[in-house]
Amino acid sequence: KKILFAASEAVPFIKTGGLADVVGSLPKCFDKKYFDVRVMIPKYLCISQEWRDRMQYVDHFYMDYLGQSRYVGILQYVHEGITFYFIDNESYFNGAKPYGDWFWDLEKFCFFCRAALSALPVIGFKPDVVHCHDWQTGLIPVLLKDSFRGGDFFCNMKSVITIHNLKFQGVWDVKTIQRFTELPDYYFTPDKLEAYKDGNLLKGGIVYADAITTVSNTYAEEIKMPFYGEGLDGLMRARSNSLRGIVNGIDYDEFNPETDRYIAQNYNAKNFRREKGKNKKTLQQELGLPIDEKKFMVGIVSRLTDQKGMDLIQGVMDEICSEDMQLIILGTGDERYENMFRHYDWKYHDRVSAQIYYSEAMSHKIYAACDAFLMPSLFEPCGLSQLMALRYGTVPIVRETGGLKDTVWPYNEYESTGTGFSFANYNAHEMLGSIRYAKYVYYSRRREWNKIIDRAMVADFSWKTSASRYQELYDWLIG
Ligand code: ADP
Ligand code: GLC
Repeated sequence: KKILFAASEAVPFIKTGGLADVVGSLPKCFDKKYFDVRVMIPKYLCISQEWRDRMQYVDHFYMDYLGQSRYVGILQYVHEGITFYFIDNESYFNGAKPYGDWFWDLEKFCFFCRAALSALPVIGFKPDVVHCHDWQTGLIPVLLKDSFRGGDFFCNMKSVITIHNLKFQGVWDVKTIQRFTELPDYYFTPDKLEAYKDGNLLKGGIVYADAITTVSNTYAEEIKMPFYGEGLDGLMRARSNSLRGIVNGIDYDEFNPETDRYIAQNYNAKNFRREKGKNKKTLQQELGLPIDEKKFMVGIVSRLTDQKGMDLIQGVMDEICSEDMQLIILGTGDERYENMFRHYDWKYHDRVSAQIYYSEAMSHKIYAACDAFLMPSLFEPCGLSQLMALRYGTVPIVRETGGLKDTVWPYNEYESTGTGFSFANYNAHEMLGSIRYAKYVYYSRRREWNKIIDRAMVADFSWKTSASRYQELYDWLIG
């Protein structure tokens, strides 16, 4: 069975968030005897030269789009046994980042969707299922039911769309979306690509895909309600028979404290009591914090946006900083949050360290060094950072929403169960209460704390179970 992943990002080539981790790591985890899974993403100019040099030219063709004949190059690279295809067009994929300018992004990804499907006969890969991810590839299920329907090649091809984040939908006025999608009027009614009088690419994908998934069970339920539904909760309810939640995993080879090359001291579930703390001391030294292996250290690795609960943290930052603990932040995003953390780094220099940049290496060091990991999201389709924290025996403190609720089990001191700390309401002092409770257990109930780490480190969030659920879904679609 042949599956094509079509997406806007994939590790190790290009990453802006968890989507790239999923698209890059899940394909490796399918049963290779039955599934040939390949991945297609744009060949951005901002992919590092090192990767671009390794890509091999496969073929090219010209495609009519928006009244012009457009170059579509196809390159390929086999990484860890998975074939990645890259769609090349330098006038579209030349930015310093994969996305940013909304208007331009719409045209760019409409082009990508058309080019991706058009490339398939050229490379002779005929997938049984095209698995699309987020709004950038939302047009593909529509095209498979429309202009690509005729002929033998595409007629039985099924589509799946996975919603990684319902907040981003690819929306502009109907006229513009119609122009970029080159679809007839017929599609622009409220039961199809129109939503609240605008054109909506993700909605098209959700309406026309043969199956819809999202990245946790709780988020699959939440998006049927107005608070989390981003205006599409009605559609999610209408399509609830075709919607399932499949929780994400992480790459257990990439994220493994026993073999991680970024961290000062490797450790595992048996020897963390002795070894993990060395990572804390090394990081304190590197960041210029007071060196104290016993100090309660909390980490944040995140996009700095409202989704991630940054306004809650801002609301009680002075209180957090007056606790006996250290706080390390690694992230980029909204300027006001970047500056807020810089300010507190200046104000409480011996307690707070704000690292406002993107670094894979620093993220691993933080996952390994900290005692707890803070992720108080407003909404969280799945969240991978808390899974990485669990894997490194760094106890998550989360809000009970979406994937955070499904993957972090709250500590229960009476039964001695749980892998983290959590709170329910979107309330800064509730969050502060959880941080204080975690700190108390850390300082005053150390044996209990270590048992939380024991449970966290053996919890299995590799792709094994979830990949087999996707396999079932493909099998069911193919029939
Ligand atoms: P989202 O995709 O919504 O940003 P996830 O938790 O699914 O959230 O995934 C975030 C991913 O991005 C994780 O792999 C996390 O380690 C990584 N990440 C976020 N910010 C940074 C940063 N500043 N530097 C390095 N990695 C980061
Ligand atoms: C999105 C979501 C995040 C999820 C990731 C991968 O970026 O915000 O919760 O983990 O996609 O599915």
